[in-house]
Amino acid sequence: MFKKGMRRLASGVSIITTRLGEARFGMIATAVSSVSAEPPTLLICVNRTASSHDPIRLSGVYCVNLLSADEDEITERFSSSQMRDSRFADADWREMETGAPALATSLVSFDCRVVQEIEIASHTIFIGEVAAIELWAEQSAPLVYVDGQYVRSMLGAGIKQSLQR
Ligand SMILES: Cc1cc2nc3c(=O)[nH]c(=O)nc-3n(C[C@H](O)[C@H](O)[C@H](O)COP(=O)(O)O)c2cc1C
Repeated sequence: MFKKGMRRLASGVSIITTRLGEARFGMIATAVSSVSAEPPTLLICVNRTASSHDPIRLSGVYCVNLLSADEDEITERFSSSQMRDSRFADADWREMETGAPALATSLVSFDCRVVQEIEIASHTIFIGEVAAIELWAEQSAPLVYVDGQYVRSMLGAGIKQSLQR
């Protein structure tokens, strides 16, 4: 019932990344939320079984890259465990303050340092203070996930127009 109910919640889609030494890690996530504006703080909920979980804990940094509706192919790479090794291929990845990879074709990247961790059930909530923000593409529609699928056209022209205003 819980999962059935949560399928009705439409969410923006992000790639959360981190860097541990030379190694980069990343995953698709919808469990991202603003916590406060002063200081700018946001949280992510990461399953402890995800390959990015321990690297985020150890590095103490992560970058939230909010995807635009045009980012079709990259979503599979960052959610399929078979594609772990090729996640960072063929895309424009940059570095901001923390060293976590930032996707220059996303809508916005929030580069964060972990200030608190809360373990709850299967997940860890990482609360992060935002160290740097890059608004990459202000005029694109967001990628939305609802009812188990990505929706690229639902918001379509309407939101593009309102974002351009
Ligand atoms: C649309 C979507 C949203 C997801 N949101 C989350 C999330 O918020 N937190 C999380 O831990 N996993 C989330 N996942 C699952 C991870 O993306 C997935 O477990 C991970 O990338 C693959 O695991 P691996 O890195 O261990 O190979 C989501 C997957 C999809 C397709």
